[in-house]
Amino acid sequence: MPRLSYLLTLTPLETWRLVRRRLPLLRNGPAWTADELLSSGKHGRGIRFAELLLRQEAVVRCHMPWEPLNFEGRRVVEIGCGPLGGFGPLAIFCGAATFQSAEPEWDAELFSSVRVRDTYLRTFHADLTALYGPRMDFDAFVAALAERMAIHRAGFERAAIEGPIDVVLSQSCLEHVFPLEATVDKLKAIQGPATRFLHLVDFGNHYPTGNPFDGLYEQPPEDYIAGRGKAINLLRMPDVAKLFESRGIAARAIASRDAKATYRGAIHPWWRERYDDTGLFTQLALVAGPPS
Ligand SMILES: C[S@@+](CC[C@H](N)C(=O)[O-])C[C@H]1O[C@@H](n2cnc3c(N)ncnc32)[C@H](O)[C@@H]1O
Repeated sequence: MPRLSYLLTLTPLETWRLVRRRLPLLRNGPAWTADELLSSGKHGRGIRFAELLLRQEAVVRCHMPWEPLNFEGRRVVEIGCGPLGGFGPLAIFCGAATFQSAEPEWDAELFSSVRVRDTYLRTFHADLTALYGPRMDFDAFVAALAERMAIHRAGFERAAIEGPIDVVLSQSCLEHVFPLEATVDKLKAIQGPATRFLHLVDFGNHYPTGNPFDGLYEQPPEDYIAGRGKAINLLRMPDVAKLFESRGIAARAIASRDAKATYRGAIHPWWRERYDDTGLFTQLALVAGPPS
């Protein structure tokens, strides 16, 4: 019932996108459009990436010594930057030597369109200028993006990105990757001991339900995935932490949002046998390292 009421709140276009993502045969269907992206409260606001970074670094600082990420002259990589280049424009504005990403849904033509330049990038540039100072004018910004940003239309695990990389980021991406092992292998290959990394992982169901775990723990993960498609891999925070550790990446997993209080579902034994409450009810976590 909560899922039905959620569907009823969507526009036909949003419903189509949701259905498309759940049906493997349609997954390579029509890509994002400029209209969809620019009218989206999430995707249309580039400065969201600066806000995310400021907040996430503040949270990390509560748990370990952490200097703000410095992009000046750095080689920066983001896993799954999304349709408008994710942290790329911010990193380039702040002086990154290069920004590379692997994004299976990347549409280079859309990103270089006049609409994206004159709406998304222009506002993003104005907001970056207000936040970080007048580092470059708009024309220089657009030219720097063209010269220093390279986005591979591929899964990160297969992308032609080579290390060593100075800064690695991802935003709500690792929970969507199948299998995550290959991605962490690739991270190991491009990271050195001095590489700084910050990944935000969202362990919720990715629906606007009352509780972010509604519907998720009532069956084992393979049944959930069989019913709803390969949208989220259902690894929990301890699994991600162990995976990084198993590949020799010294990462700290920091729970940054607990969502137990309002969960009312019946938890299937599969979950209870494997996870404590922290593992089950951490909705957001940061995977970061090394301490500064
Ligand atoms: C929830 S979206 C987040 C996008 C962007 N980071 C943001 O915050 O707007 C997850 C992204 O992960 C990407 N993705 C899924 N599997 C991937 C893989 N193997 N390698 C790189 N990106 C992947 C998807 O295409 C999608 O754009």
